Amino acid sequence: MAVILGIESTCDETAAALVRDGREVLCDVIASQVAEHAQYRGVVPEIASRAHIQNILPVLREASESAGVALSQVDAVAVAHRPGLIGSLLIGLTAAKTLAWVLDKPLIAVDHVHAHLYSVMLHGRGGKEKVMPQFPAVGLVCSGGHTALYRLGSFGEVELIGSTIDDAIGEAYDKVAAILGLGYPGGPVIDRLAAEGDEKAVRFPRSYLGRQSLDFSFSGLKTAVLYHVYGVPGKGQAVPRRDPGLMESPGLSDEELRDVAASFQAACIDVVLEKLKRAARRVGAKSVLVGGGVSANRGLRAALTRLGLEVFLPDRAYCTDNAAMTAGLGYAAFAEGRFADLGLDAITYSQFAR
Ligand code: KG4
Ligand code: ZN
Repeated sequence: MAVILGIESTCDETAAALVRDGREVLCDVIASQVAEHAQYRGVVPEIASRAHIQNILPVLREASESAGVALSQVDAVAVAHRPGLIGSLLIGLTAAKTLAWVLDKPLIAVDHVHAHLYSVMLHGRGGKEKVMPQFPAVGLVCSGGHTALYRLGSFGEVELIGSTIDDAIGEAYDKVAAILGLGYPGGPVIDRLAAEGDEKAVRFPRSYLGRQSLDFSFSGLKTAVLYHVYGVPGKGQAVPRRDPGLMESPGLSDEELRDVAASFQAACIDVVLEKLKRAARRVGAKSVLVGGGVSANRGLRAALTRLGLEVFLPDRAYCTDNAAMTAGLGYAAFAEGRFADLGLDAITYSQFAR
């Protein structure tokens, strides 16, 4: 039996978790910064770094207390060291290195995006064990920072086979929510509105990027929503000069808002399902794993059951950023003795090679 401490600070959540044998989440403490960033309708890196500094020690203390496990009793410290915002990454990484050094524990380097895929294996304290997916599998991470398709030979053998060429899908949700004056983050509120709207009300474009492509593009869809709401430039109604994301509300009725949300979501889901089918054919996949913040979306989760493939989704608690997935994937490295040294670097989004 091994208990791994996971630490996550790649973007705007400061999180620490203790996970037993890569499966059972003993505690999963997350300090969210949504309130600090909401007025800017997106993450402000400098604010995020400062909040991580304030949150990291209280979060670690709370994790240890709520699990009833002293940090000195853990078997290893796993940290998400890539990809992310540099100032944010450095706080979690420094805390992890310090703990590993002071407590004389092995340090484990975890890729945040790969960890999102591992989250399908996590269950709560005393919960039912998750079934191990069959490999090779297709993995899709759909979050605020990523829309990426992978071929998985195992959880540790991950090959990128497709990604977004512009906006990530969660970013599109957040920007469309801003266009509609719905606040930040946009995913959960669009999810809620879409459930009550008519997805056929507006036929927004689906971008498939050619018949074979496994890449994604969401910026055209986002612009189509903008034009639908504010009018097409040069065709009578002018798009407002100000950034529409900074406007309070486009003046749509509640019914129109629900219909636009549902129609936008339907376009996203169509594209995701088509790309998953293509990827599964290409890889000869025995199963499909989906993780990341957008995998919490109820419309997408329902649609995935119609894919005709065996689909593995995380419990909703483990879809958005958390440290349990870091500890979980860290356990796989622990079991194989793959440890990092104290010189481990933080790797940002822009340094991140495809
Ligand atoms: O995985 P995550 O917490 O952070 C990144 O690694 O990016 O994902 C955050 C993203 C945000 O864009 C948020 O709007 C989206 O996930 N999201 C959702 C839902 N919950 C969160 N998108 C659609 N439906 C949801 N229910
Ligand atoms: Zn994430």
